[in-house]
Amino acid sequence: MSILASYRARFVEGLSRALDLPGAEIEKLVKPADPQHGDFSFGTFVAAKAKGKKPPEVAVELAKSLSLEGLEIAPAGPYVNARIAAMPFSREVIDQAYAQQERYGHGTSGTGKTVTIDYSSPNIAKPIAFHHIRSTVIGHSIANLYRSQGWKVEGINYLGDWGKQFGLVAVGFQEWGDPKRINDVAHLVDVYVKANERAEKEPAFDERAREFFRRMEANEPEAMKLWQQFRETSLSDFKLIYARLGIEFEHYEGESRYQGKMDAVIDRVTATVGTKVSEGALIVDLPYAENEPPVLLKKNDGSTLYATRDLAAAIDRQERFKFDRSLYVVATDQSLHFRQFFGVLAKMGLPWADRLVHVNFGRVKGMSTRKGNLKLLSEVLDEAHSRALTKVKDNIAAGRIETDDPAKLAEEIGLGAIVFGDLKNRRTTDYEFDWDQVLDFEGHTGPYLQYAHARACTVLQRGGGVPASYDASLLVLPEERALLRQIATLPVVFQDALAQNEPSLVARHLLEIAAAFSRWYTLGNQQREHRVLVEGQPALQAARLALTNASAIALRAGLGILGIGAPQQM
Ligand code: ARG
Repeated sequence: MSILASYRARFVEGLSRALDLPGAEIEKLVKPADPQHGDFSFGTFVAAKAKGKKPPEVAVELAKSLSLEGLEIAPAGPYVNARIAAMPFSREVIDQAYAQQERYGHGTSGTGKTVTIDYSSPNIAKPIAFHHIRSTVIGHSIANLYRSQGWKVEGINYLGDWGKQFGLVAVGFQEWGDPKRINDVAHLVDVYVKANERAEKEPAFDERAREFFRRMEANEPEAMKLWQQFRETSLSDFKLIYARLGIEFEHYEGESRYQGKMDAVIDRVTATVGTKVSEGALIVDLPYAENEPPVLLKKNDGSTLYATRDLAAAIDRQERFKFDRSLYVVATDQSLHFRQFFGVLAKMGLPWADRLVHVNFGRVKGMSTRKGNLKLLSEVLDEAHSRALTKVKDNIAAGRIETDDPAKLAEEIGLGAIVFGDLKNRRTTDYEFDWDQVLDFEGHTGPYLQYAHARACTVLQRGGGVPASYDASLLVLPEERALLRQIATLPVVFQDALAQNEPSLVARHLLEIAAAFSRWYTLGNQQREHRVLVEGQPALQAARLALTNASAIALRAGLGILGIGAPQQM
């Protein structure tokens, strides 16, 4: 339980004892208080009714009778309010941060539970679009959140490695590909783009691509060999990117895994929900809304589809992992697909169908090359690096930052900028990507958080490191109390973010922590006695260093959940 939750529980328990009412009932009546009145508020209306007294009267009596450690209790009209006292709260927060380090805010609510998270899932030999960055970073952060609360996470990179697009790349490659460059993704993407254009203009070419895919579905060795090579080329390129971002998947698998298992799934759908032939294609026999495209299981040429494979994959995942929850971190564009195939599983009578969640996200604009093509993901990361390096060099020259290794720092800042720039947005909203904005050291950005963290580390070091002992009761400035409160809230935010599959809650709370830290930290610019390294007052300095340390730990823990590095020096 988080520290904040434990104070709340203490208040609930005290009320329940005093009123002789079950805790579960009180629980529902304890609300967050208006900040000027405290932290928690209890309305006495129900209790007053039972006693046949007026609520304000009951509030006064109740407040008088409650004596709870670390809580200041006061009546206000019909309410009893509780405020968390500075002590021992301040010490508890700092000690907990110090004890848990980068695991600060972690918990055990998910112990014994399993979640599968389908994320990143790019398509092989196709240009990788920014929506894959979104899926990658949102999915990674959600995976970290679940892990942090004790869940067993099965992260699945469900590669788009099957379908007609391989036919396109293959015939394109046979036509104008350079066999020496079969290991070069950029080349394969060029071939794909060209082949796609040609297929649109030339039906015969398109037919050759289809024919190639049919050969793949028939498992023809020669076709499969070429497919395998394309797959490996793309995969090794993706893996470089994941390594750069510090992402590891429990499983790399893809749509091809379900090749040969399609008929069994189709039979199951036929036996339960029913199927029928419509315009030569096999569809799931469901009532469809007007204009709603039906769920296609087989095209008129007999080849299977995305939905067929997703049905098979969901069943397979349940069999293998017995998941309690199964998430799909995929763009909102695919909402219909998910709604439909989840619906089919439910209609099939599978009791776990309601554990599937489409964790959807909106679009990003402003991520194209001048020609309007989407950039390769690696190009975006390289650009982030080089832009960050320019900034780092400028800041070093201006004496604003320090580092022994500018290139390494630029990599952390550049990636942090991209990842945070994405995660700070509510995932379902569309946003405009802007290089200057994500890299602004003073904006609501990754670099700003990294900078705040590095500041804290530097002060700590200058003050001789983490103090051996400290007296938290010396932290009496309102800015100190506000900062402690923000740090204490982080564990609660982790839980909320998990419940909503919403990393932006963590991102935004880190901005609050950093802002509270810098409000406090910069007080010393005006008044020497407010400095962390306050002259001639070793006990006060120790307390402030302890708070500085707790701030750094909280920022580090939160950045860790988001998958962003926290350099010590910058
Ligand atoms: N490969 C797909 C795409 O890039 C995303 C796959 C998402 N996962 C799934 N189980 N459908 O659009």
